[in-house]
Amino acid sequence: MAALKERIGIYPGTFDPITVGHLDIIRRALRVVDRLIIGVAQDTGKAPIFDMQMRSKLVEADIATFGADAKRVEVRQFSGLLVNFAEESGAKVVIRGLRAVSDFEYEFQMACMNSRLKHDIETVFLTASEDTHFISSRFVKQIARLGGDISTFVSPNVAKHLSEHFKGTNTWN
Ligand code: COA
Repeated sequence: MAALKERIGIYPGTFDPITVGHLDIIRRALRVVDRLIIGVAQDTGKAPIFDMQMRSKLVEADIATFGADAKRVEVRQFSGLLVNFAEESGAKVVIRGLRAVSDFEYEFQMACMNSRLKHDIETVFLTASEDTHFISSRFVKQIARLGGDISTFVSPNVAKHLSEHFKGTNTWN
């Protein structure tokens, strides 16, 4: 009997910063794939407050709390096209989280564009859990900047870095 091939998935994002919404998707993606590569993207069309190194470090620190499952997750940075990164990584599955109908159009377009670029890469959507589906990195940053409580949206480590980042500032990022 042929040996079963390991199923590798990519979960790409800006992760500026990683939230409990992302962590929920990562945990559930590990039920679907054998190994998950979290791709921290350079080219996202967004203007992140944290550079790629810091965004990756924050993701790694949160993954380290996963226990045994952390061994199946790898955090990597990438620039350029997601489909090229997926191919180089040997991944055939791109995981994305869907929060609401409002996400659908953007995600659907991106999945179709990626599929046109590389036919053999499939996007798998996981619906966000009901207790995290409203979380957005943008609002988390806004609340942190305005001194609000973000402890239920991000890990204590991310909360610490956000409050350090916004210490003494009152401008919108
Ligand atoms: N629960 C709660 N929130 C969630 C969530 C979930 N399950 N999943 C995502 N989110 C939120 C995030 O907090 C974030 O909020 P924000 O918009 O307020 O910042 C938002 O949804 C999505 O951000 P993120 O998950 O970091 O992904 P992204 O949409 O920024 O990622 C890339 C985009 C990286 C996948 C895309 O730009 C890309 O592929 N870039 C590479 C270049 C390329 O190939 N381009 C062609 C694409 S067709």
